[in-house]
Amino acid sequence: MPTLSAAGLAQLLGDWRDDGPALRALADRIRLLLLDGRVLSGARLPAERELAAALGLSRTTVAAAYARLRDSGHLRSVRGSGSVIALPATTAPGPAEPLTVPGGLVDLTRAVLPAAPVVADAAREAAEDLLAHLPGDGYELLGVPALREAVAGRYTARGLPTAPEEVLVTLGAQHAVGLLCRVFLSPGDRVLVESPGYPHAVDAARGAGGRPVAVPVTAGTPGGWDAEAFEDAFARTRPALAYLMPGFQNPTGAVMPADLRRRVVELARRHGTRLVVDETTNDLAVEGPVPPPFPADTVHVGSTAKSLWGGLRIGWIRADAATVRHLAAHRAPWELGTPVLEQLVVARCLPRLDDVLVDRRAELRRRRDALTAELAAALPEWDVPHVPGGLALWVHLPTATSSALALAAHRHGVLLTAGPRFGVDGAFERYLRLPFGADAGTLRAVVVPALVRAWHETGAVAPVARRLEVIV
Ligand SMILES: Cc1ncc(COP(=O)(O)O)c(C=O)c1O
Repeated sequence: MPTLSAAGLAQLLGDWRDDGPALRALADRIRLLLLDGRVLSGARLPAERELAAALGLSRTTVAAAYARLRDSGHLRSVRGSGSVIALPATTAPGPAEPLTVPGGLVDLTRAVLPAAPVVADAAREAAEDLLAHLPGDGYELLGVPALREAVAGRYTARGLPTAPEEVLVTLGAQHAVGLLCRVFLSPGDRVLVESPGYPHAVDAARGAGGRPVAVPVTAGTPGGWDAEAFEDAFARTRPALAYLMPGFQNPTGAVMPADLRRRVVELARRHGTRLVVDETTNDLAVEGPVPPPFPADTVHVGSTAKSLWGGLRIGWIRADAATVRHLAAHRAPWELGTPVLEQLVVARCLPRLDDVLVDRRAELRRRRDALTAELAAALPEWDVPHVPGGLALWVHLPTATSSALALAAHRHGVLLTAGPRFGVDGAFERYLRLPFGADAGTLRAVVVPALVRAWHETGAVAPVARRLEVIV
C-alpha cells in the first residue's frame, strides 16, 4: 500500500485554500487529487498530526477534513494502516452515453471521440474473418498477420518502409508504453518526458523505476518544445529512454518542427537513448499535414483509440524485428496477447482509414472552432491557444486556480482534469486541459456555461492569499 508523506501531500495540495472554511477546502482538494489520479486509490494518507504540522493547521481541522472524506466515502480507516484514500464504488464510470457518465455529467477528463461509423461495419465483417482463426490456439503475442501487414503498410505509405515483422500489436498505446518501460528501464534510469505531458506515460516510467526528466512544451508557440532544454537534458542526464508526442502533443496540441525532430534524433543517437515517439494523436490534423514518421531506428507507438475508437483497445509498437521479438517474449508475466476479434476489426478498418480521417478531422475542426469561439465570448480573460490539431485546448488561466475550477465545474456537471495532473511535479495550476471531443451543442449548452459559473466561483476573484503575493 503506497504511503503519502505529509510533505509529499502538502506539495501535491499546492495552493489549496479558498475563501471558505479550511476543512472543506482541504477535503475537496484531497478528493480532487484522488479523482484526477495525482494520488492513487489505495494510498495511505499521513497521520492527522503530521499533515497538520506540514500545513500549519490545527489537528482538529485536519481531523475534520478527514472526517468529511470519510462521510463522502473517499476515506476509510484500516486497522493498523491508518486512513486509506479510495474511490467509492459509485464514482466508477460505467457504460454510458458518449462523453457522459451516470448522473448526467459531461466527462471531459478523457480527450476522445465516439466510434467512427466504419467500426460497426468492420465488426460485422470481422466476425466472419474470425472463423478462419478458431482452429488455432488464439494466443497472439505478436499480433494477427492481417493486422501486422495493415499497420506495416501504413508506415510504408507514410515514407517509412516497414515489414510486418517490425510490428507488435498491443492492447492500446498505453500498454505499448508500459511494456517498453518495463522491458527497457532499470531502476534509477532517467527518462526524458515532456512537461506538460501524458500523465499515464510518466506513471508507467515511474512504475518501472524510471526517473522523469522534464522538457517544457508551450501551447500556441510555433516551436512548442524548448530546443535548448532538450540539449541540456540529454547532456546532463543521458536518459535511457525519451518519450515524446511530436504530433499534436497531449495536452498542448503542439507539432514538433522538422529541424527539432532531426536534432532530437541526433541527440538520442549520440547519448545512446532509446527514442520512443507516441503517435496516438498524430492523425488528428485539424489543419495542415499529418506529421511524418521518424527514422527507422526510432520506436514508434500507435493506436486506434483516437482515429477509430478507444473501445477497440488496439495499439502497436513499430521497431526493428529483433526488438519486436524481444518485447513479445517479455509480455507473458503481465498478459498473453491481444484479443483476435478486435485485431480483425482493425485490420478491416485500416484500409479505409484515410476516408475515416477526412470526416474525423472535419468534425474535430467544427468542435474546436465551436469551443474556441464560445470561450472567447464567455471568458475573454482566458488565454486560449490556437491548436492545429489533437483533441484539446491547453488553456492558460489568469489565476493559479485550475484545481479549484475543476472542483467547481464538477458541481456544475462537467468533469475536468486540473492542469497539475499533466505536470511532472505538480506544476500547471494556471492551466486547464479542455478537450473538444464533445459535440458542439453540448460544448455550447453545458460545458461553457458550467465553466463560466465555476470560474466566477473560483478563479475570477483571486482569494486574498493570492492577492497578497504582489504588494505595492
Ligand atoms: C499520447 C497518448 N498516448 C497513449 C494514450 C492511450 O492510448 P490507448 O487508449 O490506445 O491506450 C493516449 C490517450 O489519450 C494518448 O493521448
